[in-house]
Amino acid sequence: MIAVKLGGAVITHKEHERQFRTRVTRRLARELTAADGPLAIVHGAGSFGHPQAMQYQLHRGWVPGIDQREGIAVTHAVVRDLNLRVMRELRAAGIACTAVPPFPVLNEGYLHHLREVLDLGLTPVTFGDVLIDGQPSIVSGDYLMQLLASRLPVQRVIFVTNVDGIYARPYDPATLIGECTPAELERALVGDSTASDVTAGMAGKVKSIKEMVYSGAEVAVINGNKPGRLRSALCGTVTGTRVVQP
Ligand SMILES: Nc1ncnc2c1ncn2[C@@H]1O[C@H](COP(=O)(O)OP(=O)(O)OP(=O)(O)O)[C@@H](O)[C@H]1O
Ligand SMILES: [Mg+2]
Repeated sequence: MIAVKLGGAVITHKEHERQFRTRVTRRLARELTAADGPLAIVHGAGSFGHPQAMQYQLHRGWVPGIDQREGIAVTHAVVRDLNLRVMRELRAAGIACTAVPPFPVLNEGYLHHLREVLDLGLTPVTFGDVLIDGQPSIVSGDYLMQLLASRLPVQRVIFVTNVDGIYARPYDPATLIGECTPAELERALVGDSTASDVTAGMAGKVKSIKEMVYSGAEVAVINGNKPGRLRSALCGTVTGTRVVQP
């Protein structure tokens, strides 16, 4: 199975609160149909989630003096709004899919639901969200990818985002890493995100990627703003960064 993350930085305008990139998502949905086997799809939150989680400090547990109950409600609602928009584009492209939210707690039940959907021959779509497991927290789409890779039969992982791959020096496209091992990734200087990201942007992604490669998956990071790159990555030709086992 291939797990694909549609990053919030590509499916939304990350700098503009709650702006969905309909046309880009529509094209990516069509490219996803190139997969010739089962898929699991994760999407990020982008500007539907990160700004709200930041405003209410939901990534920091209970914080006194903030109406975090309102924050949980608002953040979960905007993430669900984004998910419905993504689902609409996936279904319009002909992908038979159903949503599997991680809310309210990440437990075996969540993994069971993912497996049930896959067993029916449907594509599960899950997404970064707020959790309320005793205290508020945020689960990133990157972490969900890591969880899927460790608990489901995932052989390949594709992260679709708004840069060409992982740069050895943050924000310097001339230092794009074509292929590397997780150990070599340690040496790359990784920044967070240019936009608000409560889950550490590229640094959080790199942490999850290292775990995934160690658990046996082959990982690609590609630019979803460049038409055709997702389609060719699904067919085995990666233009971007490949992280492989030594
Ligand atoms: N070393 C690096 N190489 C590439 N990008 C980097 C690096 N360091 C920081 N970045 C930033 O990380 C961003 C991508 O991470 P980000 O978490 O914002 O994307 P995403 O996963 O698509 O979004 P979301 O978390 O909403 O799903 C890029 O836009 C880039 O500015
Ligand atoms: Mg991120």
